[in-house]
Amino acid sequence: MPRILLIFLTGMAILHAQPAPDPMIEDLIRSMTIEEKAGQLNLMTGSMDVTGTRASEGMEQKILSGQCGGVFNVYTPAATRQLQEIAMRSRLKIPLLFGYDVIHGHRTIFPIPLGLSCSWNPDLIRRTARVAATEAAADGLNWTFSPMVDISHDARWGRVAEGSGEDPWLGSEISRAMVQGYQAGDLTAPDSVAACVKHLALYGAVTAGRDYNTVDMSRRLMEETYFPPYRAAVAAGVRTAMTSFNDIDGIPATGNRWLLHDILRQRWGFDGLVVTDYSAIEEMIQHSTTENGEQAARQALQAGVDMDMVSELYLKKLPDLVKSGAVSEEQLDEAVRRVLTLKRDLGLFKDPFARCDEARAKSVLLNESHRDLARQAARESIVLLKNQDAALPLKKSPATIALIGPLAANRRDMLGCWAAAGNDNLAASPLDGVRKTLGTTATVLHARGSDVDDSEHVRLGGSFFPEIDPRGSEEMLAEAEKIAAKADTIILVLGESWEMNGEAASRADIRLPECQRTLASRMLATGKPCILIVMSGRPLDLSWESSRFPAIVQAWALGTEGGNALADVLFGDFAPVGKLTMSFPRAVGQLPMTYRAKNTGRPANDKIRYTSKYIDIPNDPLYPFGHGLTYGTFKYGPVKVSSPEMPPGGSIQVSAEITNTSNLLATETLQLYLRDIVSFVTRPLKELRGYQRVTLQPGETKTVTFEITDAHLSFPGPDFKPFVEPGEFDAMVGPDSARLQSVRFKRLEK
Ligand code: BGC
Repeated sequence: MPRILLIFLTGMAILHAQPAPDPMIEDLIRSMTIEEKAGQLNLMTGSMDVTGTRASEGMEQKILSGQCGGVFNVYTPAATRQLQEIAMRSRLKIPLLFGYDVIHGHRTIFPIPLGLSCSWNPDLIRRTARVAATEAAADGLNWTFSPMVDISHDARWGRVAEGSGEDPWLGSEISRAMVQGYQAGDLTAPDSVAACVKHLALYGAVTAGRDYNTVDMSRRLMEETYFPPYRAAVAAGVRTAMTSFNDIDGIPATGNRWLLHDILRQRWGFDGLVVTDYSAIEEMIQHSTTENGEQAARQALQAGVDMDMVSELYLKKLPDLVKSGAVSEEQLDEAVRRVLTLKRDLGLFKDPFARCDEARAKSVLLNESHRDLARQAARESIVLLKNQDAALPLKKSPATIALIGPLAANRRDMLGCWAAAGNDNLAASPLDGVRKTLGTTATVLHARGSDVDDSEHVRLGGSFFPEIDPRGSEEMLAEAEKIAAKADTIILVLGESWEMNGEAASRADIRLPECQRTLASRMLATGKPCILIVMSGRPLDLSWESSRFPAIVQAWALGTEGGNALADVLFGDFAPVGKLTMSFPRAVGQLPMTYRAKNTGRPANDKIRYTSKYIDIPNDPLYPFGHGLTYGTFKYGPVKVSSPEMPPGGSIQVSAEITNTSNLLATETLQLYLRDIVSFVTRPLKELRGYQRVTLQPGETKTVTFEITDAHLSFPGPDFKPFVEPGEFDAMVGPDSARLQSVRFKRLEK
């Protein structure tokens, strides 16, 4: 038994003091009827994007009669002004909130969040969030439903595209950075919006990766892996939080008082506004934990939900519930107070039209500096998975290049899922980018080659309707072969179209669709040099491709400037720096998977049958978490520790030498992982605890040092409070989670 030492780290689990009551808000609440109070809790959707099974009706009338507190899916200064003017004609003239899913940019679209996370550059991500907020606010909005910080280990779940991958440490840094970007400085400033951390909670662990499915999880896993990024957003001051669709321990998140009150408010100290996800209050009836709308509304309010997105059960049921005494008016007031406080803090009572400024919209939206940042963000999101014999970068020489594949010329797919107000006509496809980069230097040819997916399930028409080319597959393949025959190099752009990931886009087979695999083999059969670009919103199973293509570039959906950034990387104007934030599996059967695996009592051993492994494939991923190549190459020296012993409350330094062994300027992100050798509970074999990016001249050597303190060793203790054990630890440094060198040190007890 290890001896256990309890150390409480400061800054966690604080109870925020309730802010002093604001006389303006208290007067307003006193003057409201119960119906008007329920109205403030009603969040309605405009007709632009309906992402649920129902839409809102009678919006203008409801705003006028005080039955609506906020609207989402409506933007532009003119459209929001028009609705705000109606609110100003209502009896109490309470301004509206205007929300929208500004997930990875508003008009200027940045890479999908999973892609952005591969930059391992929280400061860059913060800047993208700042630009997104500036554009959203210039377009009439004051609230974004972002950051989405759900950890996920399951690439079947389409919504991994919206998050930052599998790791809670990196996920927490990105969560903080996004909140800071959106809510920078003064929230009343007309270029600020309130952020919304979502989805509380554990949504990324839906069973079998099927969207909206049940979640069943131990408290330990929640605390160690899934909670940290939500908690990081709260610690960064996020103003709102959204509940998730799933249940937790048998209770839907939207009616889960333990989650929303005991954990979110009491333990994490959140004092902002809680909104449901789309019609989630009503969905508690389908979940079968409530019988009818009255019960659902009551359960949600009593659990701690302030605003009801779309279901209108608060609007319809709360007045009677209060009148009958089933719900207290104080409880209703508490929710109303949170809505009004947010409106006050956004400056809406002072000037409800501050964000409805046409002139500002013109100068801000999609301006050049935003596009520059989008290009940089896209470059840094690209991950070079494989580059045999330096197949990349390609030379800008007078050659013929064939860009082939269903995603090669498509601009919409470059924007990805949740593309907010992005305009695909203004986006650069891979073909646009390559043509622009090569100009007249080379001849660039194009053929579609195949549909994105023409499988029977798709043809029969489910809820996913990719474009099916009327020419049929053989004709497209023949055209691609003809074009390929003229080319010196083939660049094949395959993957997922924008609607194949994101919400309601779970996939049971995460390989490239069959028609694309056929195209890939026909292109390989030409014998020409062939580079594979994969655009996707999730890790795909690339086992087949990985053993055949000399070079593979993971290009996600890179946003407005995606095609240009991709060309920058392909032709060496920018050497890739991206590192995976989700493991790429060898087969869908490995899912869910994470590099933070535990040892088990029977660690895998190829020679011993009765150990924890598959008999048909290795346990390890095809491409591990943290993996990503660049055009240079490196040699790592041994990992050293400044002292073999670390005193309590003290620190030690772990350092590694790295040499650029190539003749190119090269950038690498070194990663630090820790392992607690003996603990009172089973612990992961390695956990990310730091990373540093360094750029080295050809031949240059640098020593990179990481400082380790108790904060790095801490994990949830027996009572789930932060806790550090004395004893031995391994510190490991390397270029990814699989290629590590380690050194042991001891955390002393006294
Ligand atoms: C999604 C949320 C989103 C909401 C509003 C829901 O379907 O789950 O992430 O914020 O719609 O569009």
